[in-house]
Amino acid sequence: MGGRFVIRGGRPLSGKVRVSGAKNSVLKLMAASLLTPKECVIRNVPRITDVETMAEVLRHLGAEVDWQGPVMRIRSGEFEGRRAPYHLVRRMRASILVLGPLVARFGEAAVAIPGGCNIGARKIDLHLKGLQMLGAEVITEHGYIRVRARRLRGRDIYLDFPSVGATENLMLAAVGAEGITRIENAAREPEIQDLADFLRSLGVEVRGAGTPLVEVEGGLPGKGTDHAAIGDRIEAGTFALAAAVTRGELEVEGVNPLHLRLALEKMAEAGVEVEEREDGFRVRGNERYRAVDVATLPFPGFPTDLQPQMMVLLSLAEGVSVITENVFESRFMFVGELNRMGCDIEIKGQHAVVRGVGRLSGAEVCATDLRAGAALVLAGLAAEGVTEVLDIHHVDRGYESFEEKLRSVGAEISRVGT
Ligand code: UD1
Repeated sequence: MGGRFVIRGGRPLSGKVRVSGAKNSVLKLMAASLLTPKECVIRNVPRITDVETMAEVLRHLGAEVDWQGPVMRIRSGEFEGRRAPYHLVRRMRASILVLGPLVARFGEAAVAIPGGCNIGARKIDLHLKGLQMLGAEVITEHGYIRVRARRLRGRDIYLDFPSVGATENLMLAAVGAEGITRIENAAREPEIQDLADFLRSLGVEVRGAGTPLVEVEGGLPGKGTDHAAIGDRIEAGTFALAAAVTRGELEVEGVNPLHLRLALEKMAEAGVEVEEREDGFRVRGNERYRAVDVATLPFPGFPTDLQPQMMVLLSLAEGVSVITENVFESRFMFVGELNRMGCDIEIKGQHAVVRGVGRLSGAEVCATDLRAGAALVLAGLAAEGVTEVLDIHHVDRGYESFEEKLRSVGAEISRVGT
């Protein structure tokens, strides 16, 4: 866990980079494969530690997981284990996504209560309330959430907030319910659409994914599937911002540009040149950037997962930008680290006031979570001198071969320790 990146800043990036499959999609597709006893093949699977953790969760439950390169095969025959233990859930909260499919298929499941998290409290009340509305009994005891249901019944569920995870967990549970489940105020993220496509390929009727009303017709699938996950829009956005902050030029491939349109538009507003392509986009940095205000919101709003990286760009802009974080309650923990590199950022509640500074200076900094870690790497690429980013196991959770990809487009970055 002691690994760190050593970065010598000031090299403009240039060339072509291909993004991997979307972490936030693949994790859910893996959970969804618990719905069928037949083999599910998932393609475009990134080699990152969050996917490794989910593979461990599935194996712990009794599924066979075979993972070669970007192709994963999962077979969840008749198995007994229906419990995701704390040592895995604490490594990755998304483990709770196995609740829905396990209850749908076996009528019972237990998942350790996810512990603390570096970006705020992150409740799961909407997941549990929804499961109860479908007829499940939810008991919380001895550090576990136990869910049991003799039968689930489809019905209308209104989410207080368009939570990505709750929408997905309930879609998955609804597959095992009798009749139709309608999830209102559903999340609209592209990963939800990918999950719906995966379910449809299994023969499940799903309508409306990508809109605020998702409908699932109950009926457990009896067949398997072969499905390629969508490209990772957050990785793509991170590379776009890496090109921008180094005043370089990158072609980013393997992602639907519509999946990060607002983020690309905000970059363009700040002065980055952006050209959309069919399978990605091209970005070109500039000498001078303008301040812009950014507010994170559920999709199609500006993604909270790009907020820290965008903050690095705005730190290099002329003028004062305000970033408002509306999705997570404390996602500014990394700001102190950026300020150590010469940024001038002040936190006022859910707002960050970012005063543009002419230059950043390399320093030793600590990654506090996945996206903060990526932002510190970007800051290091833009800074004068050497930056060391510590605790990069956070970055390894979500970026496949991050430093190799950056090196291939001209960055001077190496990994020290493991
Ligand atoms: C997913 C993504 C994460 C991204 C986030 C928002 C995965 C594995 N992770 O996380 O990278 O940053 O979407 O785009 O896909 N909330 C509740 N009650 C609930 C559920 C959520 O209050 O039952 C709150 C959370 O505390 C948070 C907000 O809703 O403040 C958003 O959470 P949610 O959309 O559920 O995000 P995740 O699915 O956890």
